[in-house]
Amino acid sequence: MPSRDDLKRDAASQAADLIQGGMVVGLGTGSTAAFFIEALATRKPDIVCIPTSERSAAQARAGGLQITDFAHHTSIDICVDGADEIKRDSLDLVKGLGGALLREKLVASAAKRLIIIADSPKLVDWLGTTAPVPVEVTPFAWELTAARLAKLASTVTRRASPNGVPYLTDGGNYILDCGFGAIADAAVTDRKLREIVGVVETGLFVGMAEMALVASAEGVSRFQRS
Ligand code: A5P
Repeated sequence: MPSRDDLKRDAASQAADLIQGGMVVGLGTGSTAAFFIEALATRKPDIVCIPTSERSAAQARAGGLQITDFAHHTSIDICVDGADEIKRDSLDLVKGLGGALLREKLVASAAKRLIIIADSPKLVDWLGTTAPVPVEVTPFAWELTAARLAKLASTVTRRASPNGVPYLTDGGNYILDCGFGAIADAAVTDRKLREIVGVVETGLFVGMAEMALVASAEGVSRFQRS
C-alpha cells in the first residue's frame, strides 16, 4: 500500500511531465508542491520559477532552479500547487493550511494554467467538510475582523505557531481559520468574506484550477474543471 507521500510524489511527477523548456513556472507551497519542486530540481528543465512562499523559494534555490519575479514576468505559463480540499466537479479549492494562500492566489491569478496536485483524500463533494477555510487578515484590529467573520462562520480560530505565538504569513499577516461545514456556494462565501474590512484574502480558490492530478493506490487520475 503506497503511503500518502508516495501518492503526492506520483501526482507531482506527472505534473513535472507538463513542464517544457522556456516556461515561467509558478511553484506552490506545501508537502505536495515540495515533491514537484524536487522533481524539477532533479530534471533541471530550462525554466524560470516564481515561488509562492519563502519556503518554496529556498527549496527551489537549493535545487538549482532559477527564480524570477513579477518585475520581470507578469504572466506565468503554468502554476503547479497543492490544495487542502478539491471539489470533485468544479475543482474549486480550499487552500492555505500551509499559510501561503495570498501569494498562492496571486501567482495562480497570473497563471495561464493552474494545475493542482494531491492525494485522493483531498477530493471532496463539498468544500468545508474536512478543512477550515483559512482567511488572511491584517494584525491591526484582527479581533474586530474575527468578530465580523464569526457572523458568517461557525468557528473562527487565530492560527498559532507551534511555540504558541500567532502564526505570521510571509506578508506579516495573521490567519483566521474559519469553520463552515459544507459550503453550498463557494463563490458567494468567498465574496462575503472578502467584503469584510481587514480581510486580505481567502483560501477559497473559485474557478481557478484547470486540472487536478489526484493520486490513489490505483494510479493518478486527471480531473478537468466542468
Ligand atoms: C499552502 O498554503 C496550502 O495551500 C497548500 O497548498 C496546502 O496546504 C496543501 O498542502 P499539502 O500538500 O502539504 O497537503
